[in-house]
Amino acid sequence: MQTPVKKLTVPLFRAAVGGERRLTMLTAYDYLWAGIFDQAGVDSILVGDSLAMVVQGHSTTLPVTLDQMIYHGEMVVRAVRRALVIVDMPFMSYQVSVKQAIRNAGRIIKETGADAVKLEGGAIQSETIRGLVRADIPVMAHIGMRPQAVRQLGGMGKIQRHEQQLLDDARAAEDAGAFGIVLELIPEDIAGRITASLSIPTIGIGAGQHCTGQVLVGPDMLGLNQGFRPKFLKQFGHLREQADTAVRAYVDAVQQGSFPDADHSHQ
Ligand code: KIV
Repeated sequence: MQTPVKKLTVPLFRAAVGGERRLTMLTAYDYLWAGIFDQAGVDSILVGDSLAMVVQGHSTTLPVTLDQMIYHGEMVVRAVRRALVIVDMPFMSYQVSVKQAIRNAGRIIKETGADAVKLEGGAIQSETIRGLVRADIPVMAHIGMRPQAVRQLGGMGKIQRHEQQLLDDARAAEDAGAFGIVLELIPEDIAGRITASLSIPTIGIGAGQHCTGQVLVGPDMLGLNQGFRPKFLKQFGHLREQADTAVRAYVDAVQQGSFPDADHSHQ
C-alpha cells in the first residue's frame, strides 16, 4: 500500500511567500519523468509549452496545440501524487478573447485533472486572468521574456530590463488574481524588487536568487538536452552522456553476441 502524501494545493503554494523554504518547479511532459520529479520532492511540475521545442523538436514554442498540451498534461497528472501540476496555455489558445481563454483553460482543467494553468503576460492579460479566476480556474502569469512573443521580440533569450514595465505587469497579474508569477530572464536586482512588491510567489528562471522559487526545464537541468547552455542553466546531471554510453554498450553486446547470455535467457 502507498503511504499517504499531503498534496500541494494552490493555497498551500501561494502561502509559501515569506516562508523559509524556496519553492521548486521543473517542467515534465510525461508519466515517467513526472513520477521521478514528484517522488524526489519537487513542489510543482509545469507541463510547459516548451514541449514544442524539447519533445517535438520545433524551433519555437508556437506550434504546440491545445490538444497536445492536454495529452501531455494527462500523462503528468497520472504520475503525480504530491506536486502542484500546472499546464501551459499554448499560443493562440487565450489571446483571442476572455471567452476563448475560459473555454480552453476549462478543457485543460477538466480533461487533464491539473491544478492550474499558466499563460504569458501581465497587464496585457489582466482581463483574461480575472475572467479565469472568476471561473474558478487558478492562473499563474509569466512575465519578462515571453517565448510566445518571439516574433515581436525578434528572438528568444533577450534579458528584459524595463523595470517599471515589469513591476506594473507583476502588480497587474496579482491584482487580477494570479496565484503566482514566472519571472523569465530578468536581472536579479529587478526580480528581487518585484518579489518584494508582491504577496504571491515569484518563480524565477534566469532571474537570480531573490525569487520565491525556481523553475528549470527538466531535460535541460538533467543534461539531456545538448547544445542549450544559457548562463542561467546549471546541469545537475549528465544524462545524455550516460544514455549514449548505455545504448552503445547495448548495440555492441548484441552485435558481439554477449547479450542475451545465460543469465538473461529462459531455459
Ligand atoms: O514552457 C516552459 O517550459 C516555461 C518555463 C520555462 C517557465 O514556461
